[in-house]
Parts: sequence; C-alpha cells; structure tokens
Amino acid sequence: MNNPIVISAKSAEQFGQQVVSWYHLQGRKHLPWQQDKTPYRVWISEIMLQQTQVATVIPYYQRFMESFPTITDLANADEDVVLHHWTGLGYYARARNLHKSAKIMLNDYDGHFPIEIEQVIALPGIGRSTAGAILSLSLKQYHPILDGNVKRVLARSYLVEGYNGLSKFDKALWQLSEKLTPAIETDSFNQAMMDLGATVCTRSKPSCDICPVEQSCLAKAGDQQMNFPQKKPKKKIPEKQTIMVIPRLKNENCDKVLMEKRPPVGIWGGLWCFHEVDELSEINDLMTSLSLKEISSQTLTEFRHTFSHFHLDITPVVVDCQQLEVSKINEPNQQKWYDLHQGLSVGLAASTQKLLTLLRDC
Ligand code: ADE
Repeated sequence: MNNPIVISAKSAEQFGQQVVSWYHLQGRKHLPWQQDKTPYRVWISEIMLQQTQVATVIPYYQRFMESFPTITDLANADEDVVLHHWTGLGYYARARNLHKSAKIMLNDYDGHFPIEIEQVIALPGIGRSTAGAILSLSLKQYHPILDGNVKRVLARSYLVEGYNGLSKFDKALWQLSEKLTPAIETDSFNQAMMDLGATVCTRSKPSCDICPVEQSCLAKAGDQQMNFPQKKPKKKIPEKQTIMVIPRLKNENCDKVLMEKRPPVGIWGGLWCFHEVDELSEINDLMTSLSLKEISSQTLTEFRHTFSHFHLDITPVVVDCQQLEVSKINEPNQQKWYDLHQGLSVGLAASTQKLLTLLRDC
C-alpha cells in the first residue's frame, strides 16, 4: 500500500531545478516536432511516440506532416491514406483516433486544437498525460504528466511500490508528479522527465552516474533500481488459429492478390488484410462466391502474431486462380486486387506486410 509521499516544498523545488538544469545542458531540443511548435505538431508526435522509439518515429512524422500539414488536411483525408502513413508503426487505433479527433476539431473548434485540458482529454485517444504533454510543450501551460518513462523515474526516486496500471501505484505517482512539476518552465521539466526516463533512467542498466537527481534517488541509495517499478504480473493469454486465404492472379503480365478491408472495430480495424476462414473446406465456397476458379493452391508455413490479449497462429494458403467473370469485385472500398509490385495507399497490418513480402518471391 502506498501512503502519500511526503516531500518538503524545498526538496520538490530542488528536484525541479535539477531536472530543468539538466534539460538545458543535455535534453533533446532538435527533433522535428520541437521546431515551430504548435499543439497540432506536438500532438502528432506525442501519439507516434507512444510505445515507439524516437528514431523510429522521425521518418513517419516527417511523411505525416508533409501529407497533412494542418488539422483540416488530416480531417479531410481518406482513412485509407491516413492508415497507410501508419503502416509499420503498429497500434493502429492511434491513427484512427487521430483522424476522428481531427474531424471533431474541424467541426467543433473551427479546425483549431482546443486549448483547455478538459476539452483535449475529451478527444478520442488522448489521456490526461498526453493532454498535459501537448499543452505544456506547445503552449507552456502548467500540467503535470505521467507516461511510462516518467513513472519509472518517479517510482525509483521515491521508492513507490507497484507496477504500471495498478491504480494505487498510478495514483501515488500522479500525486508525486503534481508536487514536483514546477509552475515555471513546465515545458522544459516535462520534456526532461520524458528524456531522462527514455535515455538515462532506463529499465535495465540505468546510467545513474549521469542522472541529475542521483543524489536524492532512494532506489540508487539502496541499490534497488531493478526492483522499481515492479514487473506487471504476466497473464497467460489464449492461443487462437486462423487460415488466411490469398487468391492470386499470376502470369507474365500480372501478379495480384485479393485483399479486403477489415471492419472499423476489432483487431486490425480499417486495415487491409486477407480473407480469413476457420477450415480449409471453406475455401471452395469462397472461390465460387468470388467467381474465381482454383488452379492450384499451396499452404505456407504457419506463423504467430501476438496481440496484447491473445496469440494468433496464422496459416496462409495461396490459391492461384483464374477469374471467371471480369469483375466480381464490385465493392472497391471493401475488396481490391493488390498489385504486388505497385502497392496501394492503404494501411496494412504487420502480418499482412510480412505475407506480401513473402509473396513477392514465391
Ligand atoms: N515519449 C513520449 N513523448 C515523448 C517526448 N516528448 N519526448 C521523448 N519521448 C517521449
């Protein structure tokens, strides 16, 4: 049980000053989203940076900003094109929520990013910490933040017991973040805390010798860094199976596979994937419904894709076929022949991308 942590105003002030001074000397200031800071630009970067490293994000961020330089551009974009810009970043709900939020901003805020934190938290996909980060980093408003990296710095500094997601742990850390966040230079403090967690107070092998708050860190004093935060107890997740059917038209002029768009909710929502069946015996009926005649088929090696809540074992079956009618594909928003050598501006799940790469060689 975590009791509220008692910190004197003086030691809170000292913590803030040490962190801010470190930011001026060592913090990152030259990343693309740190130039011409606006709430929109910072918002996109904060969403991309969730669960993703800075180095991975940079090229995605640059392409996204070139295609959607304003909230209005993003709101008016086709969903497939937005998801295409996310292909490879994962956690696609983030991209769908960006798109939905941009539409809300266009309708309700005249295409501007709202500047009250309650309005920002009400948007899809933006929690309290992300809202605080956007408004503090772009507009210098005073808001504490608490992302995974900041949690680690605080849990170690003040020996807060628990693990990410445990409500008592999160509550104790929010109280700490509120006490420690300075009212002036909140932007530098928040950026520094995220950078410290990402680059110095790392999960394994933290670099305590270069940490600005090493002297007051209780975990360091007791050599307890690796015990804070605790590991989240692992749940055993179920295993599921699926067969992905890949109808293919292949000859000297053409190499195409049939794909379909997933429904907007559920796994891979809105992304383009292959049709799934539970049993091989269903493939015949599927081919008939598509006016396709099977010439031959081959089963590729099964592979596993793991989601946060289940493992999915995927068996891909490539069905080489002929078209019996010129076009039985009459819903181009839902089904498309995907040219393996040209691609399309649509969002693809990682497992689909992997299959497309395999298919280019077989
Ligand atoms: N992770 C999330 N937001 C970040 C930021 N602004 N800087 C570095 N890492 C982050």
